[in-house]
Parts: sequence; C-alpha cells; structure tokens
Amino acid sequence: MLLQNQKEKIIIIDFGSQVTKLIARRIREFGVFSEIITINNLKNIKNFDKIKGIILSGGPSTVTKKKFPSIPIEIFQKKIPILGICYGLQLITKLFGGSIKSSKKKREFGRAILIKKRNSLLTKNFINKNNTLVWMSHQDAVTKLPKNFEAIASTNKSKFTIIENKKKKIYGIQFHPEVTHTKKGKKIFSNFLFLICKIEDKWKISSEKNKLIYNIKKQVKDDKVICALSGGVDSSVVALLINKAIKKKLICVMVDTGLMRKNEFKYTYNIFKKKYKLNVKLINASKLYLKKLNNVKNPEKKRKIIGNLFIKIFEKEAKKFKGIKYLAQGTLYPDVIESRSTTGSKSSKIKSHHNVGGLPKKMNLKLLEPLNELFKDEVRILGKSLGLIDQVKNKHPFPGPGLAIRIVGNITSEKVKILQDADYIFINELIDNNLYDKIWQAYAALLPIKTVGVMGDSRTYEYTCLLRAVTSEDGMTADYFNFPKDFFDKISNKIVNGVPGINRVVYDITSKPPSTIELE
Ligand code: XMP
Repeated sequence: MLLQNQKEKIIIIDFGSQVTKLIARRIREFGVFSEIITINNLKNIKNFDKIKGIILSGGPSTVTKKKFPSIPIEIFQKKIPILGICYGLQLITKLFGGSIKSSKKKREFGRAILIKKRNSLLTKNFINKNNTLVWMSHQDAVTKLPKNFEAIASTNKSKFTIIENKKKKIYGIQFHPEVTHTKKGKKIFSNFLFLICKIEDKWKISSEKNKLIYNIKKQVKDDKVICALSGGVDSSVVALLINKAIKKKLICVMVDTGLMRKNEFKYTYNIFKKKYKLNVKLINASKLYLKKLNNVKNPEKKRKIIGNLFIKIFEKEAKKFKGIKYLAQGTLYPDVIESRSTTGSKSSKIKSHHNVGGLPKKMNLKLLEPLNELFKDEVRILGKSLGLIDQVKNKHPFPGPGLAIRIVGNITSEKVKILQDADYIFINELIDNNLYDKIWQAYAALLPIKTVGVMGDSRTYEYTCLLRAVTSEDGMTADYFNFPKDFFDKISNKIVNGVPGINRVVYDITSKPPSTIELE
C-alpha cells in the first residue's frame, strides 16, 4: 500500500492472464508507477484523478458466454485513456456493442504479421511496412466493431487486431505487446503512456528508499524483527533495508545446511557481519541435514525434509530471543500477484516464501514484507542504493533446498563436495569470461549415473556433471544459453581435470517449458 500512494500512476486491471505482471514491469521500466488491481478489488480504487491511464489485461475468460468478468461502465466515463489487451480488447468491444465470435478458424497462437489500416498515436513508429511481428494467443476474435471505433491494423486471420475510439481515447489490441516475442512491443506502451496518457516518466525506485525505511520504523516501532538471511538478493536487501530502519533490533539468522555453493556461507557471513555490521547469528546444521537426507531419492520428499528442518531450527533459535514480533521475508510483487485469485474472494492471501513457509502461523509472528510491491530488477536497484555490493546484488537466483535438488537421487557428503567443486569452476569461468551477467541462472548438477572414461592410460568409472545455464525474464519461461564452442571446450576440460569423481560433462539444451530450470 505504501508505494501505491503516488501522485500519478497507471493501473492494470487483471483478468487473470499469466503475463499481467509483465505489463506492470514494462511500464515501471519507463519510469512510470503501475499497480495491478484484480477485478474483485475494483471498489478499492480511490482517487481516480491520480490515475492517468488504465490497462485491461488478457485472461482465460470469454465474453461470448452469458457471464463474463467485466468492469463497471462508469470507469469508461472518467475520461481516462484505456488500453485493452487481448481479453481487454474483447471486453471493450462487447461493452460498446460490437461482436465477438469464438472460432477455430480465426484463432491465432504464436507469431502473426500486422497489416496497417490507418495511423494512430498508439502505433506511431511501431508498424513497419507489413513486417511487424506480434505475438498472439486467442481463440475469440472481434467480428464487428462497436460504433465510433476504427480499425488500425489487422492480420490475415483477424480483421480487427488494433482498434481505437480516438475521441474517447479507448484502444484495444488483440496481440500481447508485453511479451518479448512481440518485436518493439515496448513502443506500444511508450506511445500509450507518453502520447496518449501524457504521464511523466518521473518514478524511480531509488527515490522510494526513504519511504520504505520510514514505513518499517512506523510499523515495527520498538519491537524486534527476525530474518532468515540466505545471502540471495532478496533476503540481503530486506536485511539491509530493515537494518537501516531499526538497527540492532533486527536479528538475522543464517542456517548452514551444508547445501550451499562452495564458500558461499562464509562469504555471506563475512559481508553481513563484518562489512555491514548486522546482528547475524550462525547455526551450523550441515550434519543434521545430511543425516535426514540419507537415502532420500524422491525430490518432493527432499524438499519437505529440508523445509521442515529449516522451520524447526529457525523456530528453536527464535525462541532464544525475547520480544520478537515480526518475521521479515523477501516476498516480491510477482509472488503477491500470483498468490491472489483474480475473480475469487480470497484476494489478499499472501504466499509464504519457499524457505520459511509455515513459519508465521506456527510461531505467531507477524509478517514484515517490505519488498512486496517490487519486481526483482527494482530490488536490485534498491540494493544498490543501500550500498549492496555487486557480487551479491547481481547474484543468480538460488533455490531454498540448495544443492539437494541439484544432486539427482541420493545425497552424500562426497557428492556434495564433488558438485561444489564443479559448480565453483563453472561459475568462476562465467565470471572470468564476462558471461555471468548475461545469464539469468547457471549451475552445475550431479547426475546419478557413472560412466566409463579414459584418463591417461587408465579406465575411469565416474559421475556425470550436467551444466545448465538459462536466459529468462522471471523464471517462468527460460531458454538455454548459447555458449561458443571454445567455452564448452574450456569448461569441460577444467571440470574433468579439476574435479576427481567426474569424467563426463554434459550441457542441458532444453527450454522451460517443457523442462524446469532446476532438475528436481
Ligand atoms: P523451476 O525449476 O521451477 O524454477 O523452473 C524456477 C525458479 O525458481 C527457483 N526455485 C526455487 N527457489 N525455493 C526457492 O527459493 C525452491 O524450492 C525453489 N525451486 C525452484 C529456481 O532456482 C528458479 O530460479
């Protein structure tokens, strides 16, 4: 609620599309504050004078049925520019008296090429001569325009791909400008924001830092806060931010599961304890984790054991401190968006963090989630303005269960050591070759198979190391990174020569979907 109190903003009404959050992100990237509102929360919109534009998202519903999610017609009478995307376009068409038909013949999934019909502010410098690529995902299509609307562009399958009511500043597009597959999709947003809504690009996350700190002070008052510090970007920024607000009343707990990357635990401890002078409590639980994971091969079982053990250890530690009232978590805006239902009534349910799920209920702590209105890239910018060093700020995401889900099958201390060494070589090679920051996430994994090799004159029978490196925007979809051959040559050589126990290196060339980023 804190950031939402802006002088000017764009609101996005969410009809349940998987990519609504990308719309919000694109807009914020232009320096304009945007906020997502689910349709069952529309009554909470106050101060319409601060809203400079409204975007209606896509969604799985159809206006061809008797009942369909909609918005009150009064919203169209506020004289605020409106842009409907996919379902949003169909809803506008329906509400203004046009026709929409569901048709297998007219459906479009994937790439389509736009055919220009007339000029519009929305498409200024967007449509090239009949080679503008856009990304479609629809079965319903507009078959008759509402009164006072005009067609701006079409495709060979659908006649009304972009429509506008120029006088009322209402626009609709059938394709998805928010996904990167739509070439120059950002232009649609910048035209809508700056040419149509005439909003200014003055919003910056770094300027919100003091507001966030003030809010923590106001909320926490004289109470204590406990925070599980993993050394990942989110928990690091949460810890620094809260520390700025309440100093010694923040207790950071670091649990060594023994399943972190090589040297990672010590490195994180040194930075936060010595450099940032935070109140950090260390717990070494690596032996306990190994014991509990002994002979556990099932990925879900592994995750459960790790999660439950974490809760137990954390709970025990928290009891040693008196007067703790809050549990700080690095919940981000996408977690909040994903966990609330678009049409149902349980709109405010907040997803617990992977690592500490279940803690607040059991421990009777209140949640403190100062990043829950921010995207990951904004958290990084905020981290920078709090003095977070680049090595932590730009770190790839790392899963809560750690290396346990990167050692396929049974986990032993020998395998953890082998994997840590291989992963260390891989990650450092990425850094040395200036590739680390081009990749969303990279890691080495250990497969549960041994194969035959030959080293010198001897036969070897050792493990296979799998390397995974992906590009992604938010971890929801991903593609494998295309390394040059000389990098592959170098890395396979370094790992096989440098890590006893590995005699084969393979590279994962699957995207997500159909694969996931992690192996388990
Ligand atoms: P998948 O494997 O589902 O991963 O494609 C998507 C992103 O989520 C991370 N991930 C986790 N993060 N606890 C976490 O904190 C977990 O249990 C977990 N599982 C997956 C994964 O590393 C990737 O960034």
